[in-house]
Amino acid sequence: MTSKASALPDIDVEEFRKVVRSRRSIRRFKPDPIPRDVLSECLELATLAPNSSNLQPWEFFVVESADLKAKLATACLGQNAAKTAPVLIAIVARPDTWRKHARQALDEWPEASLPPIVDKYYRTVAPIHYNQGPLGVFGLTKKAAGMALGMLRPIPRGPSSTSDMKVWATKSTALAAQNLMLALRAHGYDSCPMEGFDECRVKSLLKIHRKGLVTMVLAAGKRADNGVYNRQYRFDHDQLVHYL
Ligand SMILES: Cc1cc2nc3c(=O)[nH]c(=O)nc-3n(C[C@H](O)[C@H](O)[C@H](O)COP(=O)(O)O)c2cc1C
Repeated sequence: MTSKASALPDIDVEEFRKVVRSRRSIRRFKPDPIPRDVLSECLELATLAPNSSNLQPWEFFVVESADLKAKLATACLGQNAAKTAPVLIAIVARPDTWRKHARQALDEWPEASLPPIVDKYYRTVAPIHYNQGPLGVFGLTKKAAGMALGMLRPIPRGPSSTSDMKVWATKSTALAAQNLMLALRAHGYDSCPMEGFDECRVKSLLKIHRKGLVTMVLAAGKRADNGVYNRQYRFDHDQLVHYL
């Protein structure tokens, strides 16, 4: 799945506003299923999210079968959103796939020739940048070297541990999750991101790789009339937005 940079389409900001402003976390859904082609297009749009080094450190587990969905809803602590949604999607960050994906990026580069800078990046830079080594020793070495070098010039300060790698993968995966929620909304469907779940049970039910991090389970479908629990509110911008 590739697309070439081309002429930018006209964009109607009002349509974008509608999508963003009408997205709410929905706690009760109608039983109507999401057509497979809609779901598939929303997942494709999800994977167009920006992501670190284009290493796409994510996976999506789509659960529609009644039996598995009921078990997953129980693992989501019996939340109404999970119990009523026609689809549940476990959105999983993979801090461990970077090496394989770096090789894949080289193999599947979408242009006729691979620019040397790209080749160098995936072949040499990424393996140093993302590798933490056995027991994280290489990460610690990078951190120590970085602290010394960092006194002289700006340097990247991480990732330098396995927990940094978890944050690294989760950042990109959360952006894909947001794309997915907005894509569903643009198609007239709704969602509820959930971190209220028993991760061990979710991973074992869906046979998720042991290094995968379940970033969110997304309940998706059409909102029920009583699906929105309260008015949307946010804190004042003056408190949280800083123009410098
Ligand atoms: C990472 C994350 C985890 C969340 N977990 C839950 C959850 O377990 N259950 C739930 O009902 N809502 C959950 N939410 C939804 C938030 O409560 C909701 O986004 C917030 O209250 C703002 O409401 P809005 O999304 O309607 O604007 C979660 C949202 C995010 C981003």
